[in-house]
Amino acid sequence: MTRSARQFVTPLTFQALSGNSVHTELFDAGQAQAMDHIHLARWADLILVAPASANMLAKMAHGIADDLLSTLCLAAECPVFVAPAMNQAMWNKAVTQDNIGRLRRDGVAIIGPAAGEQACGEQGLGRMAEPENICARILAGTDKTMRGLKLVISAGPTREPLDPVRFISNRSSGKMGYALAEAAVRAGAEVTLVSGPVNLPVPSGVSIIRIETAQQMYDAVISRVSDCDVYIGAAAVADYRPAQMEDRKIKKQHDHGVIALAKNPDIIAAVASRADKPFVVGFAAETDDLENYAGSKLRAKRLDMIAANWVGQAEGGFDSERNALQVYWPGGSCHLPMTDKDQLAEQLLTVISERMHEKNPTQDT
Ligand code: C5P
Repeated sequence: MTRSARQFVTPLTFQALSGNSVHTELFDAGQAQAMDHIHLARWADLILVAPASANMLAKMAHGIADDLLSTLCLAAECPVFVAPAMNQAMWNKAVTQDNIGRLRRDGVAIIGPAAGEQACGEQGLGRMAEPENICARILAGTDKTMRGLKLVISAGPTREPLDPVRFISNRSSGKMGYALAEAAVRAGAEVTLVSGPVNLPVPSGVSIIRIETAQQMYDAVISRVSDCDVYIGAAAVADYRPAQMEDRKIKKQHDHGVIALAKNPDIIAAVASRADKPFVVGFAAETDDLENYAGSKLRAKRLDMIAANWVGQAEGGFDSERNALQVYWPGGSCHLPMTDKDQLAEQLLTVISERMHEKNPTQDT
């Protein structure tokens, strides 16, 4: 127990309830060995810091070892798990997110945090994950929150041909969808990525289906979705295609030209309206009134969750390494602050797992 932990619960209470001795001091006069902290670190099969405060995470991320717990973590050779718990603004701070990213890169498994009402009365992301979820995650092994789940993820832009050499498309880089696929494989899921043309390596362990047009993406998704647990529509699907594709290259003739457009099928709405629908997560890129537009899309397309972001800002969105998301589901929402897309992908998958678990508590996510 750290000094702060002892402000909340006394070591005696902990000892009485657990039936185990409680260690508190780095150099405890009453302990037999001066190197007790190293022995304790070697003795443990794994270390779980729960709740992990912003301060403890910062110390762990920077190798500061100024009390027993931080010293144990630095000396550890076993798996280390942390279950962060703090005020939502503290969690959202860039410095906390950087520390989390650093810990993750160092192999520390991050469990949660969950969203909801906080001890301070504020709402947001920062509640410690439920103890049973923490245990389930640890028992399932490091980072295996999606073990046994099948995911279909769409990514990248679509290309809508005008003629054999020209097409209508958009600036989507596919990074978010690819980061989600990679994080889901790490979390133990079986992942199929249906991808438009992008310049990204296929994450290992992911089955890839490459498509060009929205209609091809629709066909590929629909043929695989009946057998999946989660569908994430991260692709920037073109809403319209040229009504007619010319067989030959269109010649310049007039000063003005008009392209007639036909509407593409809405892939995610088709997935969400199926009787055997999986858990469906959409993305919304908006330039204004994020909450309103994202909320309407959630309802209109009958999604289980929508991850919305601002586009046209200085940072984030399309073709960017970093992004921030506002995630909405029926009856709730949470903010995932600006960070790189790999980290954001892990955080979004955590939110998805928690939400699936809430909808269906018997399902082992
Ligand atoms: O309506 P809007 O295009 O903003 O909705 C975005 C969400 O819908 C994304 O998840 C995107 O992948 C999905 N979408 C789709 N098929 C379309 C258009 C959008 O699946 N034709």
